[in-house]
Order: sequence, then C-alpha cells, then structure tokens
Amino acid sequence: MNISIIGSGYVGLVTGTCLAEIGHNVICVDNNINKIKKLNEGKVPFYEPSLEPLIRYNVNEGRLKFSSEIGDGVKHSEVIFLCVGTPSLPDGSANLGAVKQVVREIAQHMDSYKLVVEKSTVPVQTGEWLDKLIYEYLEDKSISYDIASNPEFLREGTAVHDFIHSDRIVIGVNSDKAANLLIQIYTPLNAPILITDINSAELIKHASNAFLATKISFINFVASICEKTGADISKVKIGIGMDKRIGMDFLNAGIGFGGSCFPKDVSAFMAIAQKVGVNPAILKSVEDINIYQREYFITKIIDTLHGVKNKDIAILGLSFKPDTDDIRQAPSLRILEILKKEGANLRVYDPAAMDNVKEIYPHLYYAQDAYDAISGSIAAVFVTEWKVFKELDFLKIKNETDCTTIFDGRNIFNSHRLEKLGFKYYSIGRANKIICV
Ligand SMILES: NC(=O)c1ccc[n+]([C@@H]2O[C@H](COP(=O)([O-])OP(=O)(O)OC[C@H]3O[C@@H](n4cnc5c(N)ncnc54)[C@H](O)[C@@H]3O)[C@@H](O)[C@H]2O)c1
Repeated sequence: MNISIIGSGYVGLVTGTCLAEIGHNVICVDNNINKIKKLNEGKVPFYEPSLEPLIRYNVNEGRLKFSSEIGDGVKHSEVIFLCVGTPSLPDGSANLGAVKQVVREIAQHMDSYKLVVEKSTVPVQTGEWLDKLIYEYLEDKSISYDIASNPEFLREGTAVHDFIHSDRIVIGVNSDKAANLLIQIYTPLNAPILITDINSAELIKHASNAFLATKISFINFVASICEKTGADISKVKIGIGMDKRIGMDFLNAGIGFGGSCFPKDVSAFMAIAQKVGVNPAILKSVEDINIYQREYFITKIIDTLHGVKNKDIAILGLSFKPDTDDIRQAPSLRILEILKKEGANLRVYDPAAMDNVKEIYPHLYYAQDAYDAISGSIAAVFVTEWKVFKELDFLKIKNETDCTTIFDGRNIFNSHRLEKLGFKYYSIGRANKIICV
C-alpha cells in the first residue's frame, strides 16, 4: 500500500521505516529541511538503536523515501499518518497547532479519497474536530475521506522492536473502509488488533500513559515510606510485583519519569478531565509525587555534601532514559540547573545525549566516558540507568579517584557492595543507616 507519514521524528520515522519493512511503499515527510537532508544522505537525525540499518535497507529496496513537501506525501498515498508533535500548552492541555497546520495542508492537496490517521497522541474528540477541519479546507467538497485514530505505544530505545512486536494495535474508525485499510496495513505484523470508535482509541492512549505514570509515582510514594521506616523498596517491589494482577513492570523506584510523553500526557489528560467536569485528583498526585521525587533527590545531594559550591561532581546519564538521546523533560536537566546554580563544577557524561545538552549548557565539562567524569569528582550522581554504568569497575574508581560518595537515582547498584568498598552510597527507598529516621 502507498503510505505517507507527516512528521518524521521519533515516532514518524520509526513508523515509516517499519511499515516499509513489512512491504509498504512509504514516503516520510518533515518540514525540518535539515532532517530530510540528513535522511537523504543516509544519516539518522537522532539515536535509536537498530533504526539506521533498517532505513538503509528499505531505502535501497526503493520502499522508503523522504520529502519536505506535504503535497508529495498526499499525492503518493491513500493513507496518511499524522506523526507531528503535540507538546503541552502553558495550561497543560495538548498543543494541536502542528496537527492543525498539517491537516490544512493535507486537505488543500487532496485530489482523491484519503484516510487520515492520527498517530500523534491527541485528546479524545480530536478526530471529530479534524473531520470538520478537513471539510472546511477541502477545495472539492465531493472528495471523500475518513479519519482514524491509531495511537502509538512504542518506547524510545526499543522503538523498532516495540513496533514490529506490538502487544496490540488499536484502530479507532467510523467506517468499514477505514478499518479494512488499516487492517490490511498491519496484517503482516501478526499482532492482536483492537477495533474501536475514534473517541475510545484516542482515550486508550492517554489512559495507558497515565496508568503507567501512576504506577511509577505509586512505587515512588512507597519508596518514600521505605526510607522513613527502614524497609527496602527493592524487596517491597518484588513482593508487590509477584502478584500477577500487579506485575513487575513500571515498579522501579527512582527520581521519577521524564521524556516527551508521560509528563505532557498526564497534564493533557488532566486538562481533558477538567474540561469535561471530572475531578483529575489522581493525576495531580501522580504529577506532584513526580516533582517531589526529583527535588528531594537534589536536596539530598546538596545536604549530604554540605553544599556543592566549587565542588566537582560527576553527572552520569543525561537522556530521560537509556538507549535514547532524547532529553525532553529529562530529570537530568533540573539536576544540572540546580547544582549549577548552587556553584558546583559539573563533569557530565552520557553515551548518546551530550550533543543535545551542549545546546543548553555549552560550558560544562563533557567527559570522554564515565571514568573521565568521575575521576576529577568527589561525588558521582547516576541519573539514567544506561547499561554501561551498570558495568563500571567500582574497585578501580575507589582506588584511582577521589570519589567517595555515590548518589544512585535509579537504584542501579548493589548498596552492600558499594558500602563494603568504602563508598557513601545513597539510593531511593532502600535501607540506609544515614537516611533512615
Ligand atoms: N516519542 C515517543 O516515545 C512517543 C511514543 C508514542 C507516541 N508519541 C506521540 O507521537 C507524536 C510525535 O512524537 P515524537 O516524539 O515523534 O515527536 P518529534 O518531535 O520527534 O517529531 C515530530 C516531527 O514532526 C515534524 N513537524 C512538526 N510540524 C510539522 C509540519 N507542519 N509539517 C511536517 N512536519 C512537521 C517535526 O519537525 C518533527 O520532526 C506526539 O504526539 C507524541 O506524543 C511519542
């Protein structure tokens, strides 16, 4: 099938590439000319494991193309996926400006039937609005079209795997024609397909992300109680998660969630609830706990070190999670902001995200690797659980550097081992003589 993708970022590029991989002819469009130029030169504009070879293969096979013109995409295809960003407005609701702009351009180029599919995360009832918008901008009102919602559940860092091995594909439609086109597109993936109305599909995405964020804030709330009582969150987590009704996933205590989705989707879902007169208190707590978690960790660093002015501190991990270079709403940014303001000398390292952080903080010390960051520091703060950090040689660090204190914001390390080596070790919600009351 001929498909176009409008917005070739983390979601659009992965979607387009994977749809090409399963046999479709795909054109990925983006209004960022530099991004399209890079893609046409065979370069991937961001870090996502296993995406680059897949792009190269499908471009060589002639199934994947790139363009900066929406008109190229619309003419080429019967099905058009909207994959532009939907960031937060100041009031927390979703900014649908890019969606609106793209849909207007699509309508202006439509010369035959098109299925316009929302893959961007949008509030419930956006489909109804898009339907009216397309009709408004359509020059030839006799041209037929459908709207569908097909929310995306991939995770950055494992995006290709998640797309190809989806737990479920949600398709929200209001016509058999739209349902059949989307089923035809996804059949090669062999994944369970759930067909719903458009409103329900839109809501499924916000509800899924809000639920996962709730799990994270819930376990962080339990971790705070562990710290005050001498219980150990790593054991409590196992005891909770072994219950099949609960499960282990998303029960890792830490400094909270970040990224381009959870924070904005929780606030957008709250805004939807408020708009329709439903009390969003549960989500407000999720957000409050998430903010507290980060601020408490920063205070713990400053208090434990008796201030950080002129002290060299290593910050390990800048991306909002491992295996991505994405720093949108990353906890690291708040940590850098406050520690810098307090006068610390920061030595930072991340395997993928340093170039993105350099654009915000050009004058930090960007280390060659984790050892380089730690070697000149009195303390090391672990912010993201990259695999390379789990493999660090702490005996070498103890023997060869002045680093005496480890702040582990993701509970990556074995506390007993590090304490035995002589480090002062602070993590989240795990029994620790110094932080228990
Ligand atoms: N990133 C994720 O993990 C993830 C997962 C599931 C769903 N989503 C949702 O998918 C959507 C996209 O997220 P993303 O992370 O890929 O965002 P992104 O910022 O990486 O990509 C959006 C792309 O759209 C392009 N764009 C913006 N306006 C445009 C226009 N007028 N014409 C053409 N291109 C335009 C931008 O240049 C950018 O490349 C969001 O709604 C997000 O909530 C994201």
